[in-house]
Amino acid sequence: MQSFSFHIPTEIIFGKGAEEKVADVAARHGGRRVFIVFGGGSVKKSGLLERIEESLSKANILFAEFGGVQPNPLMSKAKEGVREAAKFGADLILAVGGGSVIDTAKAIAHGAANLDTDIADFWEGKKEVAASLPVGVVLTISAAGSETSNSAVLTNDETGKKSGLRTELNRPAFAIMNPELTYTLPRKQLAAGIADIMMHTIDRYFTHESGNAFTDRVAEALLKNVIKYGKAAMINHRDYEAMSELMWCGSVSHNGFTALGREMDFGVHKLAHELSGRYGATHGETLTAMWGSWARRVYADAPERFAEYATNVWDVSIGTPEERSRAGIRLTEEYWHELGLPLCFTELGIGVKDDAEIEKLADMLTDGGKNAPGVFHKLDRETAIEIYKMANH
Ligand code: NZQ
Ligand code: ZN
Repeated sequence: MQSFSFHIPTEIIFGKGAEEKVADVAARHGGRRVFIVFGGGSVKKSGLLERIEESLSKANILFAEFGGVQPNPLMSKAKEGVREAAKFGADLILAVGGGSVIDTAKAIAHGAANLDTDIADFWEGKKEVAASLPVGVVLTISAAGSETSNSAVLTNDETGKKSGLRTELNRPAFAIMNPELTYTLPRKQLAAGIADIMMHTIDRYFTHESGNAFTDRVAEALLKNVIKYGKAAMINHRDYEAMSELMWCGSVSHNGFTALGREMDFGVHKLAHELSGRYGATHGETLTAMWGSWARRVYADAPERFAEYATNVWDVSIGTPEERSRAGIRLTEEYWHELGLPLCFTELGIGVKDDAEIEKLADMLTDGGKNAPGVFHKLDRETAIEIYKMANH
């Protein structure tokens, strides 16, 4: 096990009616002028936004609204938010929504605390975030795990590059998590969320590091749980038990707990981000469209590890390590298919690409061959082309 440090400062308020505590918890975290960030309207339609605003008003907390954040959120929208938040004099940014809204809120918080800095510089690694405003979250979808993660993902609208910024200042001050708020999710978003939750642990599981048993068992238990309750949630969106399990696993899967003591890979996430950045595809769906191709290309590096995954997550008990590896990959894909998730470019809805376009994706991923993301298997330009081609049907 490698050495690690782990600090999750986010206060979690979980359960039915949790959002009723929003004014109290916002005030405790210094919110007197709250800048509320939300998406395309689901929180207005459900009445959640109105209820939150009423609570804030009753507690004499001032607020301003900033709506219209789209899935695969844009840097330009976050910059607009920074200007608005500064004009309002915000002291706390409240995200009401999912990963896209939360990540935009994180960017606004960084920008509002560093008005002389172009926030794109943080994402391009030109500057480090040294100060930020507190971010609060009222979560409406179990998926990205941004409510407790140290990451924020934005797409630069000028280049089409989607990338994550990792800093401990990305961890929200608080997260209000009421599973009932996810009952209104469309099937597609629920399924994509289940895939994303699984992939945050799968992208941490494949490693050449040995002797990390507790983290491994936590990861496998989390995956088995999401597989079980994901199915139940797809059958009944109002199944409180299933929605609770998904919501809590969504946070634990991406707050770092399932990779303690090892370096995480995240190569599949990076392959997938290019598909969202370039074609606007839904995050969870881009992951399932890429993972099987990645896995088939790399499992021979460590068949014992893939076999361990197959045995402990999918109960595959017989066969050589190679046979069990392939069975684990197939069972994962069959599960995703059962939930209606795509396994290739055509099913993802982006169509079959020509060679020039595949090379463009690999160039975007590797910065023209200068970088090779991934830890379990370095994804150099040639390998990335091979994997994209395997998914290109
Ligand atoms: O915009 P509205 O109208 O609110 O609708 C949203 C949106 O269309 C809808 N939705 C959310 N909650 C709902 C609901 N509809 C009905 N009822 C509800 N209760 O769902 C759609 C998707 O929302 P989005 O916020 O995009 O979902 P998700 O949480 O999956 O976030 C995806 C984004 O997070 C990034 C992804 O790359 C993507 O940009 N990620 C962020 C991470 C992080 N910060 O740690 C890690 C992840 O790996 C991921 O990359
Ligand atoms: Zn993800």
